[in-house]
Amino acid sequence: MLNPSNPIGVMDSGIGGLTVVKELQRILPGEDIIYFGDSANCPYGNKTSDQIFELSCHMLRFLGGNGVKCTAIACNTISTMADRLRPCFDYQIISIVEEAAQYVIREKLRSVGLIATEFTVASGKYAELIHKGNPDCHVIGKGSPLLAALVDRGDFNQHDINLEITTQVDNILSREKVENLILGCTHYPIVEENFRQCYPGMNLINPALEQANAVKAYLTGQNALNPQKKGTFTICTSGDPQVYVNVGKRLGLFEASELKVVHI
Ligand code: DGL
Repeated sequence: MLNPSNPIGVMDSGIGGLTVVKELQRILPGEDIIYFGDSANCPYGNKTSDQIFELSCHMLRFLGGNGVKCTAIACNTISTMADRLRPCFDYQIISIVEEAAQYVIREKLRSVGLIATEFTVASGKYAELIHKGNPDCHVIGKGSPLLAALVDRGDFNQHDINLEITTQVDNILSREKVENLILGCTHYPIVEENFRQCYPGMNLINPALEQANAVKAYLTGQNALNPQKKGTFTICTSGDPQVYVNVGKRLGLFEASELKVVHI
């Protein structure tokens, strides 16, 4: 039996998972949330799977130690190895990639572009999961080696961000004229406006919405929703907490009740 008053864990390589917190606070405002962003080691997308696994285990152990009733792996890169991580932890782990793939299946999309980290694209996980329910869907992926790190710095240099977006998305469009694009890295919805300016009319798929709905469905099924009106929000990071405060404001999040620097 889960304790409804325990917090939900959210983890990411950096600030990207705040886009998931935004959706969680919108649909589950009573939940206490404990967030871990490993900005000191961001970007994960250029690391090896063993490095990502080790770092992720540290974060998941930390969240487990704080009594989470479930954890949303907001990071797409980490989520590609959810099957390897789940057996190591005794609480529910919700992968953002699995939920985004469900959206593509449900909407019966015939083709979809995927911009994500190089690791996520190379893993082939999106295509694998989408093809389970929609075998004919074309998944046209392109990894960005730079965008997550540019966003994680929090300085939002418009020229550099737009250049990186257009370089990678034009590559996708040169292979197929997709009308749907998965923002397959949680850092990207933070600069969703830049994607909109560069590609007006493109259907941008933000996996954060799908993952937040999956967290709600899981807690509802477990009878473990927190009945309080407004939850707390604790931010733990190995990086600079001020960047989290700034991006939290930009996204319109509830103000953090606590900010902690935690080294992993
Ligand atoms: N935010 C992460 C994701 O969703 C990746 C960023 C990084 O490379 O660390 O994939």
